Amino acid sequence: MLEPATPEEFRLAWIEARERGHWPRILGGGANLLIADGTLEGVVITTDRMQRVFRPGMREAGAEEWTNDAAPDEALLVAWAGAGMPGLVRVSRELGWTGLEGLAGVPGHLGGGVAMNAGGRWGELWDVVERVHVLSPSGETRELPRAECTPGYRDGGLGDDVVLGAALRLTPGNKAEVAEAIKAYLAEKSAVQPVTEHSSGCVFKNPDPELSDGRSAGKLVEDCGAKGRRRGGAEVSTKHGNFVVNKGDARAEDVLGLIEEVRGLVADATGIVLETEVQVWGNAAPGDDPRP
Ligand code: EPU
Repeated sequence: MLEPATPEEFRLAWIEARERGHWPRILGGGANLLIADGTLEGVVITTDRMQRVFRPGMREAGAEEWTNDAAPDEALLVAWAGAGMPGLVRVSRELGWTGLEGLAGVPGHLGGGVAMNAGGRWGELWDVVERVHVLSPSGETRELPRAECTPGYRDGGLGDDVVLGAALRLTPGNKAEVAEAIKAYLAEKSAVQPVTEHSSGCVFKNPDPELSDGRSAGKLVEDCGAKGRRRGGAEVSTKHGNFVVNKGDARAEDVLGLIEEVRGLVADATGIVLETEVQVWGNAAPGDDPRP
């Protein structure tokens, strides 16, 4: 596992790995990821050390370059891929900038959030992305303006490009109102989701509402009676059907087995084959292309 501290180090690590025949897996915060039991072959590059956040007018090295010389009063947050989502929401709250409140409670790093268009009922990350800095598989960095991107539901639409950083366009607002909205979303979320337990977040994407009569994935799982179903240390949350929680000693095998079981139950009951939202890293043979 390689741990670059800057986007440039990331680029060099990527190129080095590619030259040696590997297709590196990228590890952000790991919030939406299940890793198979055992030893994982290959190269992982983590964004964990790439946590910098810039604002226009900041006197720190790199700020002018990353904010593209935006005027000091612009509500722009520019961050490297390893910046934590909760930290970015906190910064927006402290500044009274509106736009990220709907992402309150979303774990993980900015890079993964942009790549997968993290979000939920109250908003998605791409609602505020102004531009994204990416690394192409051949090792070139590019800045993509929002207009050139086609994000969708739980998908940043960036293909094989890797996110190195992004600029988020927020709007100056009222500090108390921003704080209040964040508090309300967090409260609503913890009332319906198992936020204090260990999980990978929602397991399945919500299906097309036309096919499911508007029922969410969690509701479909509940309706087929799968809540509370267990396999080893893994359990379909009794609070929210779209979460599999680790009761303490679950192995990836338990979680993956339970996911397939639930997918089958929902398919038998409704004909809807739910699509997995959680990313899974399996065990490829050395040198295999680990791309999903
Ligand atoms: N519901 C049930 N039973 C359940 C679960 C849900 O009846 O077991 C009902 C709820 O009562 C509600 C509806 O289904 O009426 C939707 O539930 P919820 O509000 O929890 O939203 P969701 O569609 O299940 C989405 C995102 C979440 C995000 C929330 C809130 C997906 C797959 N999930 O959940 O994202 O936190 O909205 O914004 O899009 C994630 O991506 O990991 C994730 C958790």
